[in-house]
Amino acid sequence: MTRYDQLCIDLPKNPKTWLVTGVAGFIGSNLLETLLKLDQRVVGLDNFATGHQRNLDEVQGLVSAEQWARFSFIEGDIRRLEDCRRACEGVDYVLHQAALGSVPRSLDDPITSNATNIDGFLNMMVAARDAKVVSFTYAASSSTYGDHPALPKVEDVIGKPLSPYAVTKYVNELYADVFARHYGIVSNGLRYFNVFGKRQDPNGAYAAVIPKWTAAMIQGADVFINGDGETSRDFCFVANAVQANLLAATATDSAAQNQVYNVAVGDRTSLNTLFSLIRDRLRANGVQYDKEPNRRDFRAGDVRHSQAAIDKAATLLGYQPEYDIAAGLESAMPWYIANV
Ligand SMILES: NC(=O)c1ccc[n+]([C@@H]2O[C@H](COP(=O)([O-])OP(=O)(O)OC[C@H]3O[C@@H](n4cnc5c(N)ncnc54)[C@H](O)[C@@H]3O)[C@@H](O)[C@H]2O)c1
Repeated sequence: MTRYDQLCIDLPKNPKTWLVTGVAGFIGSNLLETLLKLDQRVVGLDNFATGHQRNLDEVQGLVSAEQWARFSFIEGDIRRLEDCRRACEGVDYVLHQAALGSVPRSLDDPITSNATNIDGFLNMMVAARDAKVVSFTYAASSSTYGDHPALPKVEDVIGKPLSPYAVTKYVNELYADVFARHYGIVSNGLRYFNVFGKRQDPNGAYAAVIPKWTAAMIQGADVFINGDGETSRDFCFVANAVQANLLAATATDSAAQNQVYNVAVGDRTSLNTLFSLIRDRLRANGVQYDKEPNRRDFRAGDVRHSQAAIDKAATLLGYQPEYDIAAGLESAMPWYIANV
């Protein structure tokens, strides 16, 4: 039995209060669903900048009335310290997901990305420190590896950031480290690598590649590949990210605290292969897509290859990703077909 399996047995017997910021977003709403199914109490904070009420409604439909009653939602903004303080009241574990994602968004509007991802992060850390939470787990990013060419990516070998977004996520790690030193707050940063799964938004200019292509194929629209298609990523199904959050938040061994961890599968898939995987998986679900992808220029700020070493999370947290990309796509496709 893995440590995560054991945790899923222990938690319902010993419920805690969790704060999930960004709860109406993709990863946040998946954390909410899992925590409520484990009979935990959850406080959610979101300002609906990129999240949706429909994500919360969907989770409500997936849990019992009794479990849903353990959820309280605060519509608020992490850029306001008082909202963060209110959300942290009586909380054991913070899972801080709220941020403005997307490299291109941060290039278009660095000021708003900075305000949300750095000022908002700092507000959350101050509020969590003053509320004396047990631990503060936050969404870091693989973009922190920047221009460093080494593969696979190992946590303590990073390059220069390639975008304002990457700067913000790296600054989060620096603040968490300083807060641990000076205030004794226990934190862990999770460097997510291209997380995907149900409730990831396929719409808008800043949509991630898997939901964007999946929606386009379902609608019979054109799919665009930036560059030659040999750009590669370590695509990580959201259930793996949920597992990492719960393990990181509840880690009691001091060697496992105040760390940053890669959260991925440890694999690498090119965009050309991804195109075929999604098309084949849709076909298996009765959706036929016969067009070939269109090619266009590489996108500014993107790293060429990304693949994680996940040994650190495996060793210190007991992280064992349950889904590879194929299993993740298989799980996610029915949701996209039903919701696009
Ligand atoms: N999805 C990925 O592949 C990926 C990869 C690396 C890092 N991350 C990080 O993971 C976290 C969650 O990402 P996601 O993919 O679920 O994105 P998402 O956009 O679906 O969720 C982010 C949520 O944060 C909320 N939010 C934004 N600004 C806010 C503010 N000022 N106050 C309160 N709430 C606010 C949004 O409304 C949204 O619900 C983010 O921190 C993101 O940077 C995601």
